[in-house]
Amino acid sequence: MQVVTVMILLLLCKVSDFKKTRNRSLRNNERDRTLRKSSSTVKRNAPGLPCDTYTYLHEKYLDCQERKLIFVSADWPDDLKHMLLARNRIRKLKNNMFARYKVLKSLDLQQNDISKIESQAFFGLHKLTTLLLQHNQLKSLSEEVFIYMPMLNYLRLYDNPWHCNCELETLVTMLQIPANRNLGNYAKCVHPIELKNQKLKQIKADQLCGEEERQDPQSIRKEKPEAMKPEFDSSLCHMYVFPVPTLNCKRKDLKKVPGNIPPDIIKLDLSNNKIRQLRAKEFEDVSELKILNLNSNGLAYIDPAAFSGLSNLEELDLSNNSLQNFDYGVLEDLYFLKILWLRENPWRCDYNIHYLFYWLKHHYNVHYNGLECKMPEEYKGWSVGKYVRSYYEECPKDKLPIYPENFDLDKDDEEWERHKESVQTVKKHGVIVTVIG
Ligand SMILES: *[C@@H]1O[C@H](CO)[C@@H](O)[C@H](O)[C@H]1NC(C)=O
Ligand SMILES: *[C@@H]1O[C@H](CO)[C@@H](O)[C@H](O)[C@H]1NC(C)=O
Repeated sequence: MQVVTVMILLLLCKVSDFKKTRNRSLRNNERDRTLRKSSSTVKRNAPGLPCDTYTYLHEKYLDCQERKLIFVSADWPDDLKHMLLARNRIRKLKNNMFARYKVLKSLDLQQNDISKIESQAFFGLHKLTTLLLQHNQLKSLSEEVFIYMPMLNYLRLYDNPWHCNCELETLVTMLQIPANRNLGNYAKCVHPIELKNQKLKQIKADQLCGEEERQDPQSIRKEKPEAMKPEFDSSLCHMYVFPVPTLNCKRKDLKKVPGNIPPDIIKLDLSNNKIRQLRAKEFEDVSELKILNLNSNGLAYIDPAAFSGLSNLEELDLSNNSLQNFDYGVLEDLYFLKILWLRENPWRCDYNIHYLFYWLKHHYNVHYNGLECKMPEEYKGWSVGKYVRSYYEECPKDKLPIYPENFDLDKDDEEWERHKESVQTVKKHGVIVTVIG
Protein backbone atom coordinates (compact mmCIF):
# COMPACT_ATOMS: atom_id res chain seq x y z
CA MET A 1 0.00 0.00 0.00
CA GLN A 2 2.72 2.46 1.01
CA VAL A 3 4.73 1.54 -1.99
CA VAL A 4 1.80 2.27 -4.26
CA THR A 5 1.17 5.66 -2.62
CA VAL A 6 4.81 6.60 -3.00
CA MET A 7 4.76 5.62 -6.64
CA ILE A 8 1.62 7.66 -7.30
CA LEU A 9 3.19 10.65 -5.54
CA LEU A 10 6.34 10.25 -7.59
CA LEU A 11 4.30 10.10 -10.76
CA LEU A 12 2.35 13.23 -9.87
CA CYS A 13 5.61 15.06 -9.19
CA LYS A 14 6.97 13.99 -12.55
CA VAL A 15 3.84 15.23 -14.28
CA SER A 16 3.94 18.63 -12.61
CA ASP A 17 7.67 18.83 -13.31
CA PHE A 18 7.00 18.10 -16.92
CA LYS A 19 4.27 20.74 -17.00
CA LYS A 20 6.57 23.30 -15.48
CA THR A 21 9.37 22.69 -17.92
CA ARG A 22 6.91 22.65 -20.78
CA ASN A 23 5.39 25.95 -19.66
CA ARG A 24 8.86 27.42 -19.32
CA SER A 25 10.08 26.22 -22.62
CA LEU A 26 6.93 27.52 -24.25
CA ARG A 27 7.37 30.89 -22.65
CA ASN A 28 10.97 30.96 -23.72
CA ASN A 29 10.35 29.92 -27.25
CA GLU A 30 7.45 31.52 -29.01
CA ARG A 31 8.48 30.15 -32.37
CA ASP A 32 8.46 26.62 -31.12
CA ARG A 33 4.91 27.11 -29.92
CA THR A 34 3.77 28.39 -33.29
CA LEU A 35 5.33 25.46 -35.08
CA ARG A 36 3.77 22.94 -32.78
CA LYS A 37 0.41 24.59 -33.14
CA SER A 38 0.54 24.60 -36.89
CA SER A 39 1.62 21.02 -37.19
CA SER A 40 -1.21 19.90 -34.96
CA THR A 41 -3.60 21.88 -37.16
CA VAL A 42 -2.35 19.96 -40.17
CA LYS A 43 -3.23 16.70 -38.51
CA ARG A 44 -6.62 17.88 -37.45
CA ASN A 45 -7.63 19.18 -40.84
CA ALA A 46 -6.22 16.62 -43.19
CA PRO A 47 -6.75 13.31 -41.50
CA GLY A 48 -5.08 10.73 -43.68
CA LEU A 49 -5.56 12.77 -46.83
CA PRO A 50 -2.13 13.75 -48.05
CA CYS A 51 -1.93 15.86 -51.17
CA ASP A 52 -0.63 14.42 -54.42
CA THR A 53 2.27 15.88 -56.28
CA TYR A 54 2.99 14.76 -59.79
CA THR A 55 4.65 15.89 -62.96
CA TYR A 56 2.70 16.26 -66.15
CA LEU A 57 4.30 17.54 -69.35
CA HIS A 58 7.43 18.48 -67.35
CA GLU A 59 5.52 20.67 -64.91
CA LYS A 60 5.02 19.93 -61.27
CA TYR A 61 1.44 19.85 -59.96
CA LEU A 62 0.11 19.74 -56.45
CA ASP A 63 -3.34 18.23 -56.28
CA CYS A 64 -4.84 19.06 -52.93
CA GLN A 65 -8.47 19.27 -53.96
CA GLU A 66 -11.25 18.29 -51.60
CA ARG A 67 -8.98 17.79 -48.59
CA LYS A 68 -10.92 19.98 -46.10
CA LEU A 69 -7.88 22.25 -45.95
CA ILE A 70 -8.20 25.54 -44.16
CA PHE A 71 -4.76 26.94 -44.96
CA VAL A 72 -1.78 26.54 -47.24
CA SER A 73 0.81 24.18 -45.85
CA ALA A 74 4.45 25.13 -45.42
CA ASP A 75 5.89 21.83 -46.58
CA TRP A 76 4.86 21.68 -50.19
CA PRO A 77 7.68 21.76 -52.77
CA ASP A 78 8.87 25.25 -53.76
CA ASP A 79 9.06 24.45 -57.44
CA LEU A 80 5.36 23.79 -58.02
CA LYS A 81 3.98 25.13 -61.27
CA HIS A 82 0.34 24.38 -60.59
CA MET A 83 -1.46 24.33 -57.29
CA LEU A 84 -4.93 22.78 -57.25
CA LEU A 85 -6.72 23.71 -54.04
CA ALA A 86 -10.32 23.64 -55.23
CA ARG A 87 -13.17 22.48 -53.00
CA ASN A 88 -11.54 23.05 -49.63
CA ARG A 89 -12.44 25.26 -46.68
CA ILE A 90 -9.99 28.09 -46.99
CA ARG A 91 -11.57 31.28 -45.60
CA LYS A 92 -8.89 33.86 -45.72
CA LEU A 93 -5.82 34.47 -47.84
CA LYS A 94 -3.15 35.96 -45.63
CA ASN A 95 -0.19 38.13 -46.49
CA ASN A 96 2.74 36.21 -47.99
CA MET A 97 0.82 32.98 -47.95
CA PHE A 98 2.23 31.97 -51.34
CA ALA A 99 5.52 33.86 -51.19
CA ARG A 100 7.61 30.67 -51.44
CA TYR A 101 6.07 29.52 -54.70
CA LYS A 102 8.06 31.73 -56.99
CA VAL A 103 7.57 29.71 -60.16
CA LEU A 104 3.89 29.03 -59.71
CA LYS A 105 1.92 29.52 -62.94
CA SER A 106 -1.59 28.61 -61.89
CA LEU A 107 -3.43 28.71 -58.63
CA ASP A 108 -6.87 27.15 -58.37
CA LEU A 109 -8.78 28.29 -55.29
CA GLN A 110 -12.30 27.85 -56.60
CA GLN A 111 -15.07 26.47 -54.42
CA ASN A 112 -13.62 27.43 -51.06
CA ASP A 113 -15.05 29.82 -48.44
CA ILE A 114 -12.74 32.72 -49.11
CA SER A 115 -14.24 35.98 -47.91
CA LYS A 116 -11.09 37.98 -47.25
CA ILE A 117 -7.89 38.47 -49.19
CA GLU A 118 -5.21 40.51 -47.46
CA SER A 119 -3.46 43.10 -49.59
CA GLN A 120 -0.19 41.16 -49.88
CA ALA A 121 -1.64 37.69 -50.04
CA PHE A 122 -0.25 37.13 -53.53
CA PHE A 123 3.16 38.58 -52.80
CA GLY A 124 5.92 36.78 -54.71
CA LEU A 125 3.77 35.24 -57.43
CA HIS A 126 5.71 36.89 -60.24
CA LYS A 127 5.09 34.07 -62.66
CA LEU A 128 1.44 33.47 -62.00
CA THR A 129 -0.72 33.64 -65.12
CA THR A 130 -3.92 31.95 -63.95
CA LEU A 131 -5.87 32.57 -60.78
CA LEU A 132 -9.22 30.94 -60.10
CA LEU A 133 -11.34 32.43 -57.34
CA GLN A 134 -14.83 31.60 -58.56
CA HIS A 135 -17.43 30.10 -56.22
CA ASN A 136 -16.21 31.79 -53.05
CA GLN A 137 -17.58 34.36 -50.60
CA LEU A 138 -15.84 37.51 -51.76
CA LYS A 139 -17.84 40.72 -51.45
CA SER A 140 -15.10 43.16 -52.04
CA LEU A 141 -11.56 43.24 -53.34
CA SER A 142 -9.10 45.96 -54.17
CA GLU A 143 -6.99 46.16 -57.31
CA GLU A 144 -4.00 46.34 -54.97
CA VAL A 145 -3.92 42.58 -54.38
CA PHE A 146 -3.09 42.00 -58.04
CA ILE A 147 0.01 44.18 -58.26
CA TYR A 148 2.29 41.28 -57.32
CA MET A 149 1.20 39.23 -60.31
CA PRO A 150 2.39 41.12 -63.40
CA MET A 151 1.89 38.09 -65.65
CA LEU A 152 -1.70 37.42 -64.65
CA ASN A 153 -3.83 37.05 -67.76
CA TYR A 154 -6.58 34.74 -66.67
CA LEU A 155 -8.69 35.48 -63.61
CA ARG A 156 -12.04 34.04 -62.61
CA LEU A 157 -14.19 35.83 -60.05
CA TYR A 158 -17.73 34.75 -60.84
CA ASP A 159 -20.14 33.29 -58.32
CA ASN A 160 -18.96 35.49 -55.50
CA PRO A 161 -21.45 37.81 -53.74
CA TRP A 162 -19.88 41.04 -55.08
CA HIS A 163 -21.00 44.24 -53.42
CA CYS A 164 -20.77 46.83 -56.14
CA ASN A 165 -20.01 49.92 -54.13
CA CYS A 166 -17.20 52.40 -53.79
CA GLU A 167 -14.80 49.85 -52.33
CA LEU A 168 -14.97 47.86 -55.53
CA GLU A 169 -14.16 50.78 -57.78
CA THR A 170 -10.46 50.07 -58.34
CA LEU A 171 -11.10 46.43 -59.15
CA VAL A 172 -13.91 47.22 -61.57
CA THR A 173 -11.74 49.82 -63.28
CA MET A 174 -8.93 47.32 -63.65
CA LEU A 175 -11.21 44.64 -65.09
CA GLN A 176 -12.53 47.08 -67.65
CA ILE A 177 -9.15 47.89 -69.18
CA PRO A 178 -9.42 46.45 -72.69
CA ALA A 179 -6.13 44.55 -72.42
CA ASN A 180 -7.54 42.62 -69.44
CA ARG A 181 -10.04 40.78 -71.54
CA ASN A 182 -9.71 37.51 -69.62
CA LEU A 183 -9.85 38.97 -66.16
CA GLY A 184 -13.03 38.72 -64.16
CA ASN A 185 -15.45 37.96 -66.98
CA TYR A 186 -18.89 36.81 -65.84
CA ALA A 187 -18.53 38.17 -62.30
CA LYS A 188 -21.76 39.89 -61.33
CA CYS A 189 -22.97 42.25 -58.64
CA VAL A 190 -25.22 40.79 -55.98
CA HIS A 191 -25.62 44.06 -54.09
CA PRO A 192 -27.00 46.76 -54.25
CA ILE A 193 -30.29 45.65 -55.66
CA GLU A 194 -30.15 48.21 -58.51
CA LEU A 195 -27.03 46.55 -59.85
CA LYS A 196 -27.95 42.99 -59.17
CA ASN A 197 -26.89 40.61 -61.95
CA GLN A 198 -24.94 43.28 -63.79
CA LYS A 199 -21.47 42.28 -64.81
CA LEU A 200 -18.49 43.93 -63.13
CA LYS A 201 -17.08 44.28 -66.62
CA GLN A 202 -20.01 46.44 -67.66
CA ILE A 203 -21.08 48.64 -64.77
CA LYS A 204 -19.95 52.26 -64.79
CA ALA A 205 -16.90 52.27 -62.56
CA ASP A 206 -16.57 56.03 -62.31
CA GLN A 207 -19.98 56.33 -60.72
CA LEU A 208 -19.49 53.76 -57.98
CA CYS A 209 -18.07 56.42 -55.69
CA GLY A 210 -19.76 59.48 -57.16
CA GLU A 211 -22.39 61.78 -55.67
CA GLU A 212 -24.91 60.71 -58.26
CA GLU A 213 -24.84 57.22 -56.94
CA ARG A 214 -26.02 58.31 -53.55
CA GLN A 215 -28.77 60.48 -54.95
CA ASP A 216 -30.00 58.23 -57.68
CA PRO A 217 -28.69 54.71 -57.83
CA GLN A 218 -30.70 54.13 -61.00
CA SER A 219 -28.37 56.35 -62.95
CA ILE A 220 -25.46 53.92 -62.80
CA ARG A 221 -27.49 51.24 -64.35
CA LYS A 222 -26.39 50.29 -67.80
CA GLU A 223 -28.73 51.79 -70.34
CA LYS A 224 -29.17 48.55 -72.20
CA PRO A 225 -31.11 45.96 -70.20
CA GLU A 226 -29.00 43.43 -72.10
CA ALA A 227 -27.55 41.80 -68.99
CA MET A 228 -31.06 40.77 -68.00
CA LYS A 229 -31.41 38.22 -70.79
CA PRO A 230 -33.07 35.17 -69.31
CA GLU A 231 -30.28 33.10 -70.77
CA PHE A 232 -28.91 30.28 -68.71
CA ASP A 233 -25.63 31.35 -67.28
CA SER A 234 -22.78 28.93 -67.71
CA SER A 235 -21.38 30.01 -64.34
CA LEU A 236 -23.57 27.33 -62.79
CA CYS A 237 -21.27 24.80 -64.42
CA HIS A 238 -17.84 23.97 -63.10
CA MET A 239 -14.83 25.19 -64.92
CA TYR A 240 -11.41 23.64 -64.94
CA VAL A 241 -8.34 25.07 -66.59
CA PHE A 242 -5.95 22.13 -66.54
CA PRO A 243 -5.06 20.07 -68.44
CA VAL A 244 -7.42 21.78 -70.91
CA PRO A 245 -10.02 24.51 -70.35
CA THR A 246 -13.14 22.52 -69.57
CA LEU A 247 -16.69 23.48 -68.76
CA ASN A 248 -18.51 20.70 -66.98
CA CYS A 249 -22.29 21.12 -67.09
CA LYS A 250 -23.15 17.50 -66.56
CA ARG A 251 -26.48 16.81 -64.84
CA LYS A 252 -27.58 20.43 -64.43
CA ASP A 253 -31.12 19.90 -65.66
CA LEU A 254 -30.41 22.14 -68.65
CA LYS A 255 -33.09 22.43 -71.28
CA LYS A 256 -30.83 24.26 -73.68
CA VAL A 257 -27.22 24.97 -74.36
CA PRO A 258 -26.08 27.60 -71.82
CA GLY A 259 -25.29 31.11 -72.95
CA ASN A 260 -22.10 32.90 -71.97
CA ILE A 261 -19.83 29.93 -72.39
CA PRO A 262 -16.29 31.28 -72.01
CA PRO A 263 -14.91 31.43 -75.55
CA ASP A 264 -11.67 29.63 -74.77
CA ILE A 265 -13.30 26.41 -73.63
CA ILE A 266 -11.82 23.34 -75.31
CA LYS A 267 -13.98 20.68 -73.72
CA LEU A 268 -17.69 21.04 -73.02
CA ASP A 269 -19.66 18.41 -71.16
CA LEU A 270 -23.42 18.83 -71.50
CA SER A 271 -24.24 15.20 -70.89
CA ASN A 272 -27.22 14.00 -68.84
CA ASN A 273 -29.33 17.11 -69.31
CA LYS A 274 -32.65 17.70 -71.07
CA ILE A 275 -31.55 19.42 -74.23
CA ARG A 276 -34.15 18.05 -76.67
CA GLN A 277 -33.03 20.04 -79.67
CA LEU A 278 -30.07 21.96 -80.97
CA ARG A 279 -30.92 25.24 -82.65
CA ALA A 280 -28.91 26.98 -85.36
CA LYS A 281 -25.54 28.41 -84.25
CA GLU A 282 -25.76 27.14 -80.68
CA PHE A 283 -21.99 26.88 -80.45
CA GLU A 284 -20.96 29.84 -82.53
CA ASP A 285 -19.09 31.54 -79.68
CA VAL A 286 -17.01 28.55 -78.65
CA SER A 287 -15.03 28.03 -81.80
CA GLU A 288 -12.03 26.59 -79.95
CA LEU A 289 -14.08 23.63 -78.83
CA LYS A 290 -12.50 20.24 -79.50
CA ILE A 291 -14.61 17.89 -77.44
CA LEU A 292 -18.39 18.17 -77.13
CA ASN A 293 -20.39 15.71 -75.07
CA LEU A 294 -24.18 15.67 -75.55
CA ASN A 295 -24.65 12.12 -74.29
CA SER A 296 -28.02 11.27 -72.63
CA ASN A 297 -30.15 14.34 -73.36
CA GLY A 298 -33.19 12.96 -75.12
CA LEU A 299 -31.94 14.94 -78.13
CA ALA A 300 -34.36 14.45 -81.03
CA TYR A 301 -33.56 17.24 -83.48
CA ILE A 302 -30.40 18.95 -84.67
CA ASP A 303 -30.72 22.03 -86.85
CA PRO A 304 -28.53 21.78 -89.97
CA ALA A 305 -26.62 24.85 -88.74
CA ALA A 306 -26.35 23.77 -85.09
CA PHE A 307 -22.66 22.98 -85.31
CA SER A 308 -21.73 25.89 -87.51
CA GLY A 309 -18.44 27.42 -86.46
CA LEU A 310 -17.17 24.30 -84.73
CA SER A 311 -14.37 23.89 -87.20
CA ASN A 312 -11.96 22.63 -84.54
CA LEU A 313 -14.23 19.99 -83.11
CA GLU A 314 -12.55 16.59 -82.92
CA GLU A 315 -14.88 14.51 -80.80
CA LEU A 316 -18.67 14.60 -80.66
CA ASP A 317 -20.65 12.32 -78.39
CA LEU A 318 -24.33 11.99 -79.30
CA SER A 319 -24.94 8.60 -77.75
CA ASN A 320 -28.06 7.70 -75.79
CA ASN A 321 -30.36 10.25 -77.39
CA SER A 322 -33.53 10.11 -79.50
CA LEU A 323 -32.00 10.77 -82.92
CA GLN A 324 -33.54 9.02 -85.93
CA ASN A 325 -31.43 10.65 -88.65
CA PHE A 326 -29.47 13.81 -89.46
CA ASP A 327 -30.85 16.52 -91.69
CA TYR A 328 -28.74 17.26 -94.71
CA GLY A 329 -25.94 19.64 -93.70
CA VAL A 330 -25.60 18.91 -89.99
CA LEU A 331 -22.03 17.66 -90.25
CA GLU A 332 -20.71 20.00 -92.93
CA ASP A 333 -18.80 22.39 -90.67
CA LEU A 334 -16.97 19.70 -88.76
CA TYR A 335 -13.79 19.68 -90.83
CA PHE A 336 -11.62 18.16 -88.15
CA LEU A 337 -13.98 15.66 -86.62
CA LYS A 338 -12.22 12.43 -85.66
CA ILE A 339 -14.64 10.61 -83.41
CA LEU A 340 -18.42 10.47 -83.52
CA TRP A 341 -20.35 8.49 -80.93
CA LEU A 342 -23.80 7.46 -82.14
CA ARG A 343 -24.76 4.53 -79.93
CA GLU A 344 -28.15 4.15 -78.29
CA ASN A 345 -30.18 6.22 -80.72
CA PRO A 346 -33.34 5.00 -82.48
CA TRP A 347 -31.81 5.27 -85.99
CA ARG A 348 -34.57 4.92 -88.56
CA CYS A 349 -33.42 3.16 -91.68
CA ASP A 350 -35.12 4.95 -94.53
CA TYR A 351 -33.94 7.36 -97.16
CA ASN A 352 -33.27 10.10 -94.59
CA ILE A 353 -30.43 8.15 -93.03
CA HIS A 354 -28.44 8.20 -96.28
CA TYR A 355 -26.94 11.63 -95.64
CA LEU A 356 -25.35 10.53 -92.40
CA PHE A 357 -24.16 7.27 -93.90
CA TYR A 358 -22.57 8.82 -96.99
CA TRP A 359 -21.02 11.64 -95.06
CA LEU A 360 -19.25 9.05 -92.93
CA LYS A 361 -18.22 7.06 -96.00
CA HIS A 362 -16.70 10.14 -97.57
CA HIS A 363 -14.98 11.15 -94.36
CA TYR A 364 -13.30 7.81 -93.83
CA ASN A 365 -10.93 9.22 -91.20
CA VAL A 366 -13.87 9.87 -88.86
CA HIS A 367 -14.25 6.96 -86.48
CA TYR A 368 -17.78 6.29 -85.39
CA ASN A 369 -19.79 3.63 -83.64
CA GLY A 370 -23.35 2.62 -82.97
CA LEU A 371 -24.92 3.20 -86.35
CA GLU A 372 -27.50 0.44 -86.21
CA CYS A 373 -31.08 0.42 -87.46
CA LYS A 374 -33.68 0.41 -84.67
CA MET A 375 -36.63 1.18 -86.95
CA PRO A 376 -38.57 0.12 -88.94
CA GLU A 377 -39.07 -3.38 -87.64
CA GLU A 378 -37.86 -5.09 -90.85
CA TYR A 379 -34.34 -3.63 -90.56
CA LYS A 380 -34.09 -3.69 -86.79
CA GLY A 381 -30.63 -4.84 -85.72
CA TRP A 382 -29.06 -4.30 -89.15
CA SER A 383 -26.06 -2.06 -89.49
CA VAL A 384 -27.01 1.04 -91.43
CA GLY A 385 -24.40 0.04 -94.05
CA LYS A 386 -26.20 -3.22 -94.68
CA TYR A 387 -29.50 -1.40 -94.99
CA VAL A 388 -28.12 1.10 -97.51
CA ARG A 389 -26.67 -1.75 -99.59
CA SER A 390 -29.99 -3.58 -99.57
CA TYR A 391 -31.68 -0.37 -100.62
CA TYR A 392 -29.64 -0.32 -103.81
CA GLU A 393 -29.99 -4.05 -104.37
CA GLU A 394 -33.74 -3.75 -104.26
CA CYS A 395 -33.72 -0.92 -106.73
CA PRO A 396 -30.81 -1.68 -109.08
CA LYS A 397 -32.03 0.87 -111.60
CA ASP A 398 -31.58 3.63 -109.06
CA LYS A 399 -28.01 2.58 -108.51
CA LEU A 400 -25.90 5.67 -108.16
CA PRO A 401 -22.27 5.89 -109.19
CA ILE A 402 -21.38 6.38 -105.53
CA TYR A 403 -22.68 2.92 -104.75
CA PRO A 404 -19.91 1.47 -102.66
CA GLU A 405 -18.34 -1.48 -104.48
CA ASN A 406 -17.30 -3.69 -101.67
CA PHE A 407 -19.17 -3.11 -98.50
CA ASP A 408 -17.70 -5.07 -95.72
CA LEU A 409 -20.54 -5.33 -93.27
CA ASP A 410 -18.52 -5.48 -90.12
CA LYS A 411 -15.74 -3.27 -91.27
CA ASP A 412 -17.00 -0.25 -89.43
CA ASP A 413 -17.20 -2.05 -86.16
CA GLU A 414 -13.80 -3.62 -86.61
CA GLU A 415 -12.33 -0.28 -87.43
CA TRP A 416 -13.90 1.12 -84.36
CA GLU A 417 -12.51 -1.60 -82.12
CA ARG A 418 -9.04 -1.05 -83.56
CA HIS A 419 -9.33 2.64 -83.02
CA LYS A 420 -10.42 2.17 -79.46
CA GLU A 421 -7.24 0.29 -78.74
CA SER A 422 -5.18 3.16 -80.04
CA VAL A 423 -6.92 5.58 -77.77
CA GLN A 424 -5.00 5.32 -74.58
CA THR A 425 -6.67 6.56 -71.53
CA VAL A 426 -4.21 7.44 -68.91
CA LYS A 427 -5.71 7.94 -65.54
CA LYS A 428 -3.47 10.04 -63.49
CA HIS A 429 -4.30 11.36 -60.05
CA GLY A 430 -7.88 11.95 -60.96
CA VAL A 431 -7.01 13.78 -64.17
CA ILE A 432 -8.05 11.73 -67.14
CA VAL A 433 -5.81 12.46 -70.04
CA THR A 434 -6.96 11.06 -73.32
CA VAL A 435 -4.25 10.73 -75.90
CA ILE A 436 -5.69 10.29 -79.34
CA GLY A 437 -3.26 8.09 -81.21
C1 LIG B 1 1.24 25.62 -17.13
O1 LIG B 1 0.26 25.25 -18.05
C2 LIG B 1 -0.92 24.73 -17.46
C3 LIG B 1 -1.82 24.29 -18.58
O2 LIG B 1 -1.11 23.54 -19.53
C4 LIG B 1 -1.57 25.77 -16.56
O3 LIG B 1 -2.72 25.21 -15.94
C5 LIG B 1 -0.57 26.23 -15.53
O4 LIG B 1 -1.13 27.28 -14.76
C6 LIG B 1 0.70 26.71 -16.20
N1 LIG B 1 1.71 27.05 -15.21
C7 LIG B 1 2.49 28.07 -15.30
C8 LIG B 1 3.49 28.25 -14.25
O5 LIG B 1 2.39 28.85 -16.27
C1 LIG C 1 -29.75 7.43 -71.26
O1 LIG C 1 -30.47 8.64 -71.15
C2 LIG C 1 -31.53 8.61 -70.22
C3 LIG C 1 -32.22 9.96 -70.25
O2 LIG C 1 -32.43 10.41 -71.54
C4 LIG C 1 -31.02 8.29 -68.84
O3 LIG C 1 -32.08 8.20 -67.93
C5 LIG C 1 -30.22 7.00 -68.87
O4 LIG C 1 -29.63 6.77 -67.62
C6 LIG C 1 -29.15 7.06 -69.93
N1 LIG C 1 -28.48 5.76 -70.02
C7 LIG C 1 -27.15 5.64 -69.95
C8 LIG C 1 -26.63 4.26 -70.10
O5 LIG C 1 -26.43 6.58 -69.77
